[in-house]
Amino acid sequence: MRLREVFVSLALENGIEKIYAPGLKKPDPLAFLASQIASGKMSLYRPKEVRRLCLTINGGYVEAIPDAYAGINSEKSILDKSDFVEYLSPFPYIVVDCKLRDIHSEKEILSLDTQIKKTLSVVRRFMWDERLVITGFRSEASAIHYPSTEDFLTEMNFEKVILLDPNGKDVFQGEKADCYIIGGIVDRSGDKKGTTELIYRRLAENGFDVERKRILLRNDVVGVPDRINHIAEIVLKCVIDGLNVERAIYDVQNRKIARWRLRKEIAKNAKRIKVSDRKFRVIGKSFFDEVRNWLKVNEDDFYKCARDMGVMVLGETLTSAKVLKIRGDL
Ligand SMILES: C[S@@+](CC[C@H](N)C(=O)[O-])C[C@H]1O[C@@H](n2cnc3c(N)ncnc32)[C@H](O)[C@@H]1O
Repeated sequence: MRLREVFVSLALENGIEKIYAPGLKKPDPLAFLASQIASGKMSLYRPKEVRRLCLTINGGYVEAIPDAYAGINSEKSILDKSDFVEYLSPFPYIVVDCKLRDIHSEKEILSLDTQIKKTLSVVRRFMWDERLVITGFRSEASAIHYPSTEDFLTEMNFEKVILLDPNGKDVFQGEKADCYIIGGIVDRSGDKKGTTELIYRRLAENGFDVERKRILLRNDVVGVPDRINHIAEIVLKCVIDGLNVERAIYDVQNRKIARWRLRKEIAKNAKRIKVSDRKFRVIGKSFFDEVRNWLKVNEDDFYKCARDMGVMVLGETLTSAKVLKIRGDL
């Protein structure tokens, strides 16, 4: 359950269905409001008896007399941070470990900052600001900051911590944990392959027992979006929304990343045929139906990738019997 749902049920329990929330122009205003209240940045107050454009508890808008006013002032609130407390413990922490900032260029540091801000937006859709922890880097995001992940882990004394690492031995299957660590690593220049492992080694050397897991899409890391905000979103979709990993990746994947994997799949599945001494690589058109449910590509992407790879798309399903027949017909 996302924090938004916790907020909706708390509001309904308190007879609040219409909220006057001036200036709240967000893609998901209820989620934002929930995250602001849980962070103590806003509360709900008794409103004036004046018709307003109100946010409804179903996420719509209606012109009506509100049941509550969202903001911050010195009046006694009717719903605030303290009402959330008992519901908050199941929500995990997302830590972005930026101790490796020195291996980054200035441009990459800017990108790191942008990705952290985007991660905060993701976190706000599921939870609230204090569940995002940035270590070893002072970002502008209104998250929690610690000098190191070690400091944070020592203070929290969690039972289960997972470090997301594309080279981890174990595969992430959507396991719940108290805390997920993502490397604050931006791969724009140089070879940073394998650098997440440095975080693991450092934590192990400092006595922290963390599980190291990689996210795979059908047994391959290609096609898994690797930006920090995307990894956070995949994890939260699995552990809060209950999606399976493949579905969570699909939701987050963009077409560019999907096309990288599509090329790999075409290369793996194309067949070689020989026509009048000329060799061709071909793939059945129906192969597109096999990938469209787990790769975010459209038919144009399929034809373009095949063409770029010099693979011909045949109009029918290409069974091995048919390939033999084509060969026999030569
Ligand atoms: C841009 S990636 C950097 C990966 C780094 N070049 C490496 O090879 O270790 C940023 C972070 O996202 C997470 N990440 C990216 N792809 C992942 C995957 N397939 N599985 C698990 N974590 C991943 C890791 O925490 C990683 O440190």
